[in-house]
Amino acid sequence: MIARPRGTRDFLPDEMERRRDLESRFRTTARLFGYREVATPTFEETELFTIRSGEGIIQEMYAFPDKGGRSIALRPELTAPVIRMFLSEARVAPRPLRWCYFGSCFRYERPQKGRYREFWQFGAELIGVDTALADAEVITLASHLLSASGIAFTLHIGHLGFMRALLAPLPEEIRRQVRMCLDKHDLPAVGTVLRDAGIEERADALVSLATCRSVEEAIAISGLPDDEAGRIRTTLGLLDAAGIAWTLDPSIARGLDYYTGMVFEAFAENLGAENQVMGGGAYRLSHLFGGEEVPSVGFAIGFDRVMVALGETPPASETVVAMIPLGSGAPAAFNAARAFREAGIRTEVDLSQRGMGAKLASAAKGARFAVIIGDREAAEGTVTLRDLVTGEQESHSLPGAINGVRAIGPR
Ligand code: HAM
Repeated sequence: MIARPRGTRDFLPDEMERRRDLESRFRTTARLFGYREVATPTFEETELFTIRSGEGIIQEMYAFPDKGGRSIALRPELTAPVIRMFLSEARVAPRPLRWCYFGSCFRYERPQKGRYREFWQFGAELIGVDTALADAEVITLASHLLSASGIAFTLHIGHLGFMRALLAPLPEEIRRQVRMCLDKHDLPAVGTVLRDAGIEERADALVSLATCRSVEEAIAISGLPDDEAGRIRTTLGLLDAAGIAWTLDPSIARGLDYYTGMVFEAFAENLGAENQVMGGGAYRLSHLFGGEEVPSVGFAIGFDRVMVALGETPPASETVVAMIPLGSGAPAAFNAARAFREAGIRTEVDLSQRGMGAKLASAAKGARFAVIIGDREAAEGTVTLRDLVTGEQESHSLPGAINGVRAIGPR
């Protein structure tokens, strides 16, 4: 037996139907906001991700030389590919661009529930606008998408400016270590890093900022410049106006290195360790890929984590017809199956050589109706419609049977 690679999953039909249902909720909601779907390749030149994704991502990357000796990486995320695509395909398009995407990502992480080596993201990028309104629109979209999924979640909003102001005097290496500890929400480790560096006096201010939930207090502790503070107030005011529930969290540092301003994350209420279901923020990447500097803001939802949070929801009920050919009835049954499907009714033909009793028993496992076509029905041009729940059975014309099935509906 050849096993699946570690950290990957197979999806059986029930699971696949649930996944498609969630995907379509996400697409419908994104479309209501004017976000149109784009797609990029599953692999890219490795450099696209090493330029500014941050050490964490680089260490987890599936990167390898291809047969031509080029360094290729399976995408660990889609923001860098989308911005690359924007530069090569849509640089002159009217801005802002509202794009969304759904695709697989690959990270060589230690697998556990909610953390996989192949996983899917549904994300959105708003490209070419740098306003409080832009930040607020993207956060509103993220929140609406998660609400549309049906999970219970909390939305946390931060701004890199809070910590930036406090950390600015520290050496880059210390800043990096502090950011990593903050990203893991490990405040005691922040104290350790600062103590080891002999700058413990910063620790108190950092911890009180990290745990502060009041916007005005956070602005005061961090000494944020007036223009940045004003913009944060405007963004949060717009979220209130849009009816979005949020909590301030100045400790959000984000694991990727390209963010510049507003940052935000959402956490599912019923998940354990891997409960972050969405992350994003304002960022600049295009100037690093050879274009001009274009402000952008976006996020990605961890699709698989939302699926875990949703649990095993029952599949949507659907009318199913079992088409049962007997004797010389197969051609008429194939024709009748076509007519039922054209009417939008799921129809599964019994393909076995079994007797009538066995065929009906197998039909009753999944179908609401059996349509039986034997020698007599084939000769008369009729069908026998049997309700598998009530056991009632009647002879009908083909259109009559279709109407009968429609009138009663699913199981
Ligand atoms: P990220 O926080 O690295 O951000 O990933 C976004 C989401 O993907 C996470 O919140 C999590 O739900 C999910 N995720 C990450 N790793 C895994 C994994 N190994 N298994 C399952 N789910 C996972 C980004 O990727 C940015 N590109 C988001 C963004 C878009 N920022 C601006 N635009």
